[in-house]
Amino acid sequence: MTPSPASQSPSLLLLIAGAKGAIGSTLAVAAEALRDDPAPILSSLTTAHQFPWLGPDEKINVAGWDLSSESMIRSAEIHGVLPPHILSRCVDRLAFLPVVQPPTFPDLASQTARLMEDIKAFQDAHPGSEPVLVNLLPSGRQTDPDGGRCFEDLCDIYDPVACPDIAYALAAIRSGVPVVNFTPNVLETDAVVKEAASRGVPLSGRDGKTGQTFLKVVLASALKARSLQVDGWYSLNILGNADGRNLMDPDCARGKLSNKTGLLDEILGYPVGQRYGVPTHKVHIDYYPPRGDAKEAWDVIDFLGMFDMPMSLRLNLQGRDSILAAPMVLDLARWMATLKLAGRAGLVPELGFYYKKSVGADPPVTFQAQLQRLQDLHQACETAILGKKTQKETP
Ligand SMILES: NC(=O)c1ccc[n+]([C@@H]2O[C@H](COP(=O)([O-])OP(=O)(O)OC[C@H]3O[C@@H](n4cnc5c(N)ncnc54)[C@H](O)[C@@H]3O)[C@@H](O)[C@H]2O)c1
Repeated sequence: MTPSPASQSPSLLLLIAGAKGAIGSTLAVAAEALRDDPAPILSSLTTAHQFPWLGPDEKINVAGWDLSSESMIRSAEIHGVLPPHILSRCVDRLAFLPVVQPPTFPDLASQTARLMEDIKAFQDAHPGSEPVLVNLLPSGRQTDPDGGRCFEDLCDIYDPVACPDIAYALAAIRSGVPVVNFTPNVLETDAVVKEAASRGVPLSGRDGKTGQTFLKVVLASALKARSLQVDGWYSLNILGNADGRNLMDPDCARGKLSNKTGLLDEILGYPVGQRYGVPTHKVHIDYYPPRGDAKEAWDVIDFLGMFDMPMSLRLNLQGRDSILAAPMVLDLARWMATLKLAGRAGLVPELGFYYKKSVGADPPVTFQAQLQRLQDLHQACETAILGKKTQKETP
């Protein structure tokens, strides 16, 4: 890969694990479209024009891995997230994206070492860029957050074929590259977090909060602020993309369902369903092929007012999974590159605004707290980065 002169100035470099999936291919198209017509993409970011130290917002490079041998454009067509007239504008450039098939070593140490070689090659092709690993692999079987004390332990415990995310995360951390974990999969085992902290690399996750859960956090925070007691909350999702199909496997859905369910009691500060002796917060996900990526969610919210008088609310979201997810992934990548520049290492619980289950100590749970922590984090990063710059410039 020969670097072009245009790639010499700073820019974000997305290293995507699962680059040809529904979100990955949408991101790849968005990154290419940004160069010619940035407005429809920048207007959907929460971080547009916020991080000047990352170079122009319009310049984002994409590389990565996928098991699929389809071309990037064909993958985007198959997922059907974007219409042909948008895809046709970047067909030529998508063909040149360095997205490779990952190695398949049966042991974690070799797999990690080979992925590190790929990361070095991607970085060499974009000198001076700020790389971020984005995990967009399918939801898988859950790993044990307490498993392993060090890299060698992880190599004994994990099979990189059954739990591929761990090798990507370790390869990134060992290469000094921050990690966004948008999947429900547990990456933050003790040993991974220790590696990140000792190598000065930030790591955030888990499970992007794109549609129904985003609205749940907003509404639950509002009901709590208004002292309205939530008596029950029934949530149903139908979706027809590959993620939806995969979530029909109960082992793969377990992490996602637990992330979607756990947060309500945390926000409200009491177990919903207390007076019935059983939880009355229920979440269901159903694979429904006609919908493709255009998912739909329904919520029935039962709540009590003065004298315990019952009231009820219906919410119907007709969303688009990858259209909601792709800009959030971009935002998260921009945050992680910024945090790395600011000298932050280890878990970043402050990014709870973007995740269903923000990992790390004391994550913010209500919507108000999530916005406040984001603002505080921005301030802290700005102070650290500008402080470093001033130190460098002072003779
Ligand atoms: N879309 C949303 O709103 C949303 C929200 C929260 C979380 N997520 C999570 O984001 C992840 C990605 O979602 P998606 O809709 O893009 O899924 P997807 O199934 O369309 O894409 C996953 C991609 O990963 C590839 N892949 C599988 N194993 C691989 C490996 N070992 N190495 C490299 N590539 C591999 C597959 O070929 C596929 O292209 C899922 O875990 C999903 O649960 C999505």
